[in-house]
Amino acid sequence: MSASGSDFVVVANRLPVDLDTAPDGSRVWKRSPGGLVTALEPILRSNNGAWVGWAGVPDVDVEPFEDDGLELVPVPLSQQEVADYYEGFSNATLWPLYHDVIVRPVYDRSWWDAYVEVNRRFAEATSKAAAENATVWIQDYQLQLVPKMLRMLRPDLTIGFFLHIPFPPVELFMQMPWRTEIVEGLLGADLIGFHLPGGAQNFLYLARRLAGQPTSRGNIGVRSKLGVVQVGFRSVRVGAFPISIDSGDLDEKSRRKPVRDRAREMREELGNPKTIMLGVDRLDYTKGIDVRLEAFLELLTEGRVDPEDVVMIQLATPSRERVESYKQMRGEIEGMVGRINGEFSRVGHPVVHYLHRPIPREELIAYYVAADVMLVTPIRDGMNLVAKEYVACRSDLGGSLVLSEFTGAAAELRQAYQCNPHDLNSVKDAMMAAIEQTPESGRRHIRAMRRQVLAHDVDRWARSFLAALGRTGDEEPNQM
Ligand code: ADP
Ligand code: F6P
Repeated sequence: MSASGSDFVVVANRLPVDLDTAPDGSRVWKRSPGGLVTALEPILRSNNGAWVGWAGVPDVDVEPFEDDGLELVPVPLSQQEVADYYEGFSNATLWPLYHDVIVRPVYDRSWWDAYVEVNRRFAEATSKAAAENATVWIQDYQLQLVPKMLRMLRPDLTIGFFLHIPFPPVELFMQMPWRTEIVEGLLGADLIGFHLPGGAQNFLYLARRLAGQPTSRGNIGVRSKLGVVQVGFRSVRVGAFPISIDSGDLDEKSRRKPVRDRAREMREELGNPKTIMLGVDRLDYTKGIDVRLEAFLELLTEGRVDPEDVVMIQLATPSRERVESYKQMRGEIEGMVGRINGEFSRVGHPVVHYLHRPIPREELIAYYVAADVMLVTPIRDGMNLVAKEYVACRSDLGGSLVLSEFTGAAAELRQAYQCNPHDLNSVKDAMMAAIEQTPESGRRHIRAMRRQVLAHDVDRWARSFLAALGRTGDEEPNQM
């Protein structure tokens, strides 16, 4: 970043690295969890931009610093703000509300006050980091007020906003006591992006109803036919830009000999089962980890799968561990793992392997290469990058994907074994179809999905969003 600031600034709740304390008490930076960092880090590094975000620990005030060509601008949060803004309003109010109210959202006025305060701090930090006429790209549900706050501070900036989680149906959004403030906060952007056209259309309706602004009425397309909201003299565009992964990089890494050797070794370590089933998730109640365990338990109980033949591995990164609903879900999932193993394992041969920790990237790729059946069964997920990562890693055209219809990825990965996670029979049938597929039909499915994922990578996602942002104000995309 020059003294006058950066020309391209990403703003996200978290920096791409979290500050951690090593066993010897020293401070180390480690990669942050989740899909947002996976998606954005490669783009920012290649753009010499700045990234404004929280360092992941409370009460730490770190000066901006450079990391491998990327300017990192930490925003400090107090212990109380972590509790109220991050664990509270972001993850016990917005997260469940935007994920179909899987657990009941808590509407707490002091959490809202903290959300406003922290959003203001992010807006101020961004205002300082951005050069004149810079492009600023704000990310995700934790920062929905920043577009409006930043526009008031810096009208010269071009401001984009992207929501990485689903945008809920209107009937659910209307529960939110601060619904108008949120819609108006987002309308501070020049371009608002969602994963799916449905989310974008829900937002347009709310912009009319809650903010009283005229909007276009036509259908929104994927990376096309943007909607428009007229806010005074400004036209705010609204569109669907499904996020993706660095698929070429994963494809290349998954072909490397050490990775393939490690995948073979994994199978041997598991006792050479006929079928390895794999789940890879943040430990989150939206991910349907309980659903796949329940389905597996029933298949074992009914004798449709033999515990000597099939092994399930669940890799679960710890997430939001102090939020009550997460604590409860962890207990339930670990109870189910214990129950399945108690009933169906023998000594030295558990049927479910459960690892509650982040897995290093290379090792994770080897898991993808080793897995015969990838289980992605969220109750609701904005996109789900894990599904795309699995497909990108199967250059051998092996493996199969069981995919919930309630993920954004389901719109693109049509050849997966899709299932309804609310219907256990549908999940069980999809698992059986994946286990029993013939190699030829498996290859056909994976090949078609790989075509999609390799052609639509994260670079294309970012370029299509930023191109639309750059065009702001030029032409009217949809009729008002
Ligand atoms: P979310 O953004 O909700 O966490 P996504 O599926 O979109 O969900 O992205 C998750 C990202 O985190 C992926 O890049 C995935 O590889 C990574 N990830 C998930 N679980 C693990 C794990 N146990 N170990 C390492 N990385 C993980
Ligand atoms: O994609 C959803 C998301 O909440 C991101 O905003 C975030 O980086 C990731 O999941 C991980 O969540 P958290 O930052 O709460 O650990």
